[in-house]
Amino acid sequence: MIATDANVINGAVVKPLSSPQVAPQIGLEQYYSEAGPDYAAWSREFNMHFGFYRAGANPLDRESMLEQMNAEVLEHLQLAGIVEPRLLDLGCGLGATLRSFSRRLPHASLVGLTRVPWQVEHARALNEVAGFGEQVRVLEADYENTVLPHNGFDGAYALESSCHAHGPDKGALMTEAHRLLRPGGRLVVADGFLTSARFTSTLQQRVYRKLCECWVIEELAQLQPFRERLEKLGFSDITVENLQMRVAPSVAHIPWVTLKFLLTDVAFGKREMTRARWNNVLAPVLLPLVSAPLGPMTYCMITATKR
Ligand SMILES: C[S@@+](CC[C@H](N)C(=O)[O-])C[C@H]1O[C@@H](n2cnc3c(N)ncnc32)[C@H](O)[C@@H]1O
Repeated sequence: MIATDANVINGAVVKPLSSPQVAPQIGLEQYYSEAGPDYAAWSREFNMHFGFYRAGANPLDRESMLEQMNAEVLEHLQLAGIVEPRLLDLGCGLGATLRSFSRRLPHASLVGLTRVPWQVEHARALNEVAGFGEQVRVLEADYENTVLPHNGFDGAYALESSCHAHGPDKGALMTEAHRLLRPGGRLVVADGFLTSARFTSTLQQRVYRKLCECWVIEELAQLQPFRERLEKLGFSDITVENLQMRVAPSVAHIPWVTLKFLLTDVAFGKREMTRARWNNVLAPVLLPLVSAPLGPMTYCMITATKR
């Protein structure tokens, strides 16, 4: 084997391992319905993503870092000058980002998609309570194949939801996002990606498989194929920002949040700890073991403009 940068680790040549595909044993709907309420332990606003740390911010204030991630997505949508922007959340969870945008852009029209009926019901209820019932629509739909009209949105984003889409380039999801955006419309994807670095061992590859299985992910997107897909679809101005250091302070909250969850919800909770719920406890613990600097996974924000 010829040693390249990708297969020499700490001076040792390691056998390259390809990105394995996983067949999750629990369906997306079951996972997010059963583990859904547990996200309250992570975020009182139900932000189901990692936070963005800005210099000077308080790294102990998780909720404000999670909200900052919403703000970063919004900024990257580049909506200046659009009076009533039409925005699409591809995988909206319980709608935290939609509500954040509603507060910041009272004239925007916002649509969120999720495949999980439990999330639709609860996101709508949370939107009503927040007073955004009119402005925000949450629909049950598959983001790879919607019935929404062509060119209908000024901006579309997938915040830690593209990982669930098919293929290493997330081709079906990106094709649909391209169809739904108007020419000049902006796409923002923030998520974990696999870099061209390889897994350092079969054990690490197994940890990756387990992580994917726990979070109902077939395979993470691979940076290069993902970028090439955007180019082939006709997106321009493609940027890839590595946010690994920005999300690290919120990732550092995982041990504390997990311990607190075990001591409260698991020890004294009334709901049965199903497999889906245990999976949601395990996955964040495994995450650092396969992420940079130990492994090939890293967190990126990718933006593009439809020509
Ligand atoms: C980790 S959650 C992120 C939710 C939200 N973006 C946030 O940051 O709070 C992933 C979301 O992607 C959604 N999702 C996954 N696959 C989907 C699909 N094929 N169609 C629509 N939504 C999907 C899930 O239902 C879930 O709401």
